[in-house]
Amino acid sequence: MTKEILAVYPGSFDPPTNGHLDIVMRASCLFPKIIVAITENVSKRHIFSLEKRINLFEKITENLKNVEVTSFSGLLANYLERINSFILIRGLRALSDFEYEFQMALMNRKLNKKIETIFLMTDQTYTFISSNMVKEIAMLGGNIIDFVPKCVDEELKKHVMGLSKENFAKQC
Ligand SMILES: Nc1ncnc2c1ncn2[C@@H]1O[C@H](COP(=O)(O)OP(=O)(O)O)[C@@H](O)[C@H]1O
Ligand SMILES: [Mg+2]
Repeated sequence: MTKEILAVYPGSFDPPTNGHLDIVMRASCLFPKIIVAITENVSKRHIFSLEKRINLFEKITENLKNVEVTSFSGLLANYLERINSFILIRGLRALSDFEYEFQMALMNRKLNKKIETIFLMTDQTYTFISSNMVKEIAMLGGNIIDFVPKCVDEELKKHVMGLSKENFAKQC
């Protein structure tokens, strides 16, 4: 197959972590073009707006010339059909990710049998990093610089400083 393959790395990325960055860097070596598709998942409460998450992901991938950051709403399978891409990249950490990711991969294939999900195993350095954990540590005043790119660290610090006590309790 010689046509240019477009692969999509979808996620909430609230916020992007070093684990996400590692996956996108590795995927960018495997495929000619990667679209990071950030979702405004209605069932999840995000601390960063969609625009902020796009902006942060753009910053951390500015050196990766074949990576483009965008957003989508609605069903992922429909979005893939619209942009004519049928390769999904997902990251896998421990066993805990497997069940959900397996179900998603099968469901997406059921919705559109052209969709193939490719899993990249996390690098062992990032196996315990999740956006949720990073947010929790930041909210409680911990140091997260080993887990996220510098611009994300700065943005999270700003966010924590700007929270009123009431919102702080809600978001912890
Ligand atoms: N530390 C990590 N190492 C490798 N992959 C990761 C890591 N953290 C998250 N991922 C993967 O990145 C993708 C996006 O994750 P996330 O931002 O949580 O979005 P979603 O809401 O779709 O789960 C998922 O495939 C997830 O398993
Ligand atoms: Mg997740």
